[in-house]
Amino acid sequence: MTVTDVIDRVSFMDFEPATASFRDDVLAGLSHPIRRIPCKYLYDAAGAALFERICELPEYYPTRTELAMLQRLGPEIAALAGPEAQVVEFGTGDGRKSRLLLNALDRPASYVSIDISRDQLIREAAALALDMPQIEVMAVCGDYTQQTLSLPTVGRRRVGFFPGSTIGNLTPVAATAFLARCANMLPGGAMLVGVDIPKDIAVVEAAYNDSAGVTAAFSLNLLARINRELGGTFDLSGFRHYAYFNEDQSKIEIFLISQREQRAAVAGRFFHFRAGERIHIEDSYKLAPATFQNMARAAGFEPAQVWVDPDGLFSLHWLLAPL
Ligand SMILES: C[S@@+](CC[C@H](N)C(=O)[O-])C[C@H]1O[C@@H](n2cnc3c(N)ncnc32)[C@H](O)[C@@H]1O
Repeated sequence: MTVTDVIDRVSFMDFEPATASFRDDVLAGLSHPIRRIPCKYLYDAAGAALFERICELPEYYPTRTELAMLQRLGPEIAALAGPEAQVVEFGTGDGRKSRLLLNALDRPASYVSIDISRDQLIREAAALALDMPQIEVMAVCGDYTQQTLSLPTVGRRRVGFFPGSTIGNLTPVAATAFLARCANMLPGGAMLVGVDIPKDIAVVEAAYNDSAGVTAAFSLNLLARINRELGGTFDLSGFRHYAYFNEDQSKIEIFLISQREQRAAVAGRFFHFRAGERIHIEDSYKLAPATFQNMARAAGFEPAQVWVDPDGLFSLHWLLAPL
């Protein structure tokens, strides 16, 4: 299917960050004393495909746990959302959870899918529009932490959807600011958020250090992307993926660690790396239900239902947005 066919069925808004923003963020991040690259750049087409594989890994409990919860809680969530809702999803990914939710709801009127990963966004929105022709589908490519969207209201009540514990990739301050923007976008509506819970460190560390090495490939793809898009000269074999649980801050921290003294060019600038030097590429905060509810309250939501799976691994939160 071509993009033109897709646009016939799906309205598409393109705010994809320009290559210049990627370049500026990488150059600034590598010039910083504590080297870091924002995790949103992990999701080019190759990264999105690798993340789909991560979701299938035996060690990666969040996806299967949240899918099972959505399946089981479908009728209850449908009753809370009411008929003819407009669902606005942040960070859709492969769209499996979107389909579960939309199938459970009572005649959803429209669906807005927001993601930074352009190819996957268009492909999944098009497939969903074909499979659910009764729903009006809009795809928005952009950074949901930057974009203030004024969306046409199609449906009775707007329901935000933010699964995958993607909220945990934001610092608590940034997560609260993001939720406050969501509350403004959903006046009188609600938001369903999936949040990973603190647990046995071995379980959580294994989820980010899988034995098949898919998470490592996902991390290293960031350097491959820099090589592809920014004229980078990173030798991928000179870096390794490292993820550990920072107990004090209740977060997984992910780094790429230089395996030797080396240098690499990015967009014509050279960077020197000492052996053992780290580039921070992702955090994944694990938040107890009460901690997340406090964050949602600070953002202007009224926390309502909270569900936890029987093994206490993952939580789903129903938040009410003020009028
Ligand atoms: C952890 S994955 C979760 C995917 C899916 N929601 C799930 O639960 O399996 C994060 C998703 O959010 C998207 N994403 C990450 N940061 C983003 C940002 N700042 N703006 C828009 N999309 C973003 C990624 O492209 C990816 O699809």
